[in-house]
Amino acid sequence: MSEKRLRIAIQKSGRLSEGSFELLKKCGLTISRGKDKLFGRVRELPIDVLLLRDDDIPAFVADDACDIGIVGENVFEEERLSETHEAPAKEVMRLGFARCQLKLAAPKGWTFDGALMLEGKRIATSYPALTKAWLAREGVSAHVVTMKGSVEVAPRLKIADAVCDIVSTGATLDANGLAPVAMVFESEALLIRNANAFTSEKQEVFEALLTRIKGVITSRDAKYVMMNAPRAAAPAIAEYLPGADAPTILELAGDSDKVAIHAVCRESVFWDTLEELKKLGASAILVLPIEKMMA
Ligand code: PRP
Ligand code: ZN
Repeated sequence: MSEKRLRIAIQKSGRLSEGSFELLKKCGLTISRGKDKLFGRVRELPIDVLLLRDDDIPAFVADDACDIGIVGENVFEEERLSETHEAPAKEVMRLGFARCQLKLAAPKGWTFDGALMLEGKRIATSYPALTKAWLAREGVSAHVVTMKGSVEVAPRLKIADAVCDIVSTGATLDANGLAPVAMVFESEALLIRNANAFTSEKQEVFEALLTRIKGVITSRDAKYVMMNAPRAAAPAIAEYLPGADAPTILELAGDSDKVAIHAVCRESVFWDTLEELKKLGASAILVLPIEKMMA
C-alpha cells in the first residue's frame, strides 16, 4: 500500500453510500472513478477511495488494507463483539447520517409482552453477536440462526419464529407480515480508523480530512438567522434562538426603536421556531444556510 496516500473505505452501494459520497463532496473533495470501479482517487488531497460491501469495511480497516473507513455502527459493533481481530478498528467520530435501528420483529399476530416470550424460540439475524448480547442482557436464552440476507422471510419459511433485523422505514418488515417488538441497537454512520499509528504523511492528510469533516458536521444544522424586532423584544428573542451564541444587534437606520438581530443558530431552525419569533415581535425573518464553518 502507498505510504503517502490515505486510503478510505466506503460502502459501494446501500444505506451508507449516498451519505458517504455527499460528506466527501461537502468536504470539497472530488473522486475520479470509472463505472463499476472499486477504486477512486481524490483530486484535492492525497486520498484513495476503496468501494466495498459495508460488512467488509471493519475488517479491511482492522487489517490495514485501508487506513480509515465510513461504516454503520451496527456493522462495526457486530464485528467488534465477534472479536475476529486482535487489533480491531477504532471509532474516530459519529457522522450523524444513515440512522437506523436493529429491532426484534415477530409475525404480526403475536401479542408481545416482554423479552421472556422469546425463551427457547428461534431468531434469524445477520447480527448474531448483537442479538446474543441483547438476549443475554434480557436474561433470555433463544436459538440465534445466522443468515447473510433475506432474514425477513425466515418466519414464513418456518426457519425461525422471529427476526432481529435492521429497520429504517419499516417497509420491509411490513411487506413480510412482521412487526417490530423490541429495540436492540441504534445505529448511525461512523468514521473508523486502523489502530496503528499512521506515517507522518498520512497523519497530516488524516488531520486535514478530519478538520473538513468536523466543519461540515458543525455547519450541517447551523443557519444564519436575521430579523428585525422592537429593541425591547431583543433580549427575549436572543434567549429563544436555538443554539445561538450572543447575537449581533444593530440599530436600524432612521428608527431607534427597532433593531436588526443576526445570529448563528447551531441547532435546527423549524417553522415552529419562526412562528414563536414572530410572536415575540420579530419581522422580516430570514434563515440562510451556512456552507462552511470552522470552530
Ligand atoms: C436492511 C434490512 C432490510 C432493510 C430495511 O438491509 O435487512 O432489508 O434494510 O429497511 P426498511 O425498514 O426501510 O424497509 P440493509 O440495507 O442493511 O442491507 P444489507 O444487509 O445488504 O447491508
Ligand atoms: Zn450489509
